[in-house]
Order: sequence, then structure tokens, then C-alpha cells
Amino acid sequence: MKTTKIPTATRERLLRSARKVMKNAYAPFSNFRVGAAILTAKGQVFTGCNVENSSYGMTNCAERTAIFSAIAKSGPELEIAAVAVIGSPDNNHEVPCSPCGACRQVIYEFGPRALVFYQGKKGPKQSLIADLLPEGFRLK
Ligand code: THU
Repeated sequence: MKTTKIPTATRERLLRSARKVMKNAYAPFSNFRVGAAILTAKGQVFTGCNVENSSYGMTNCAERTAIFSAIAKSGPELEIAAVAVIGSPDNNHEVPCSPCGACRQVIYEFGPRALVFYQGKKGPKQSLIADLLPEGFRLK
């Protein structure tokens, strides 16, 4: 699995997809909506949003929803090349939102060289998942 160079147009497409799916979030408890889009090594895009629960710990983040949807649709040979994440408290303005620790681990499982696009405190950022999750754990 090699690090993929992501063209600007592809990055923008991923961010647009994340922005769109964010509108489907079920987030009545935090009112914080998140959308994620993943690009696979084969060039497919899968999306997901956060889905909260009255039993708060059952909440599923947008990134994991996207990854689990990709596997449900296309099988377990998933290779993630890139991930885009968008977060908003009101569906209008976007705020800093990088993947949480649990999602970093799940991204790493399927894309140890993946590039992650997100809003940082000072604007748009991109980081390798290996930098967001140093010494990531994998059994294989
Ligand atoms: N959340 C995500 O979906 N992804 C992240 O990377 C950060 C947090 C969700 C979980 C919860 O529904 C809400 O944002 C507030 O934590």
C-alpha cells in the first residue's frame, strides 16, 4: 500500500461529499454534526455521518460510519487512500474537527498511509494518519 498523491480536485470532491452527508447526521444530544468521506485505493468514495444515541456511548462517529458502509458495500479488502472530515454545530459554519482517537485507530487499520483532510484551528489542514496516530496498532 503506497501513499497516494491526492489531486486538488479529488480533495475538493471529498470535502464536498463530507459536507453533504453531514446534513444527515443524527446529533440531537451534542448538536454537533459531522460528515466524512473516504477515498479508496480503487478510487471509490464512501460517506458517513455521526449517529448518536440516548445511551451516549453507543454513538458512532462519521468516519467510522463511512468506513463501515464501505466494507458493507464492497467487502473487507478496503484500502483507504484519503479521508475528509467536516464538522459543524449548526450545519452552516464549519469548525475545527479532526478525527477522534477511536476513529484514528479505525482509519489506520484500513489505511496506514492515508491522508486526512480536516479543519484545524487555523484553517484547512492535511495530515498523514500515521502522524495523527503515532505507533498505530495493527495485527497484520
Ligand atoms: N464526532 C464525529 O462524528 N467525528 C469526530 O471525529 C469527532 C466527534 C461526533 C461524535 C458526536 O456525535 C459528536 O461528534 C460530538 O462529539
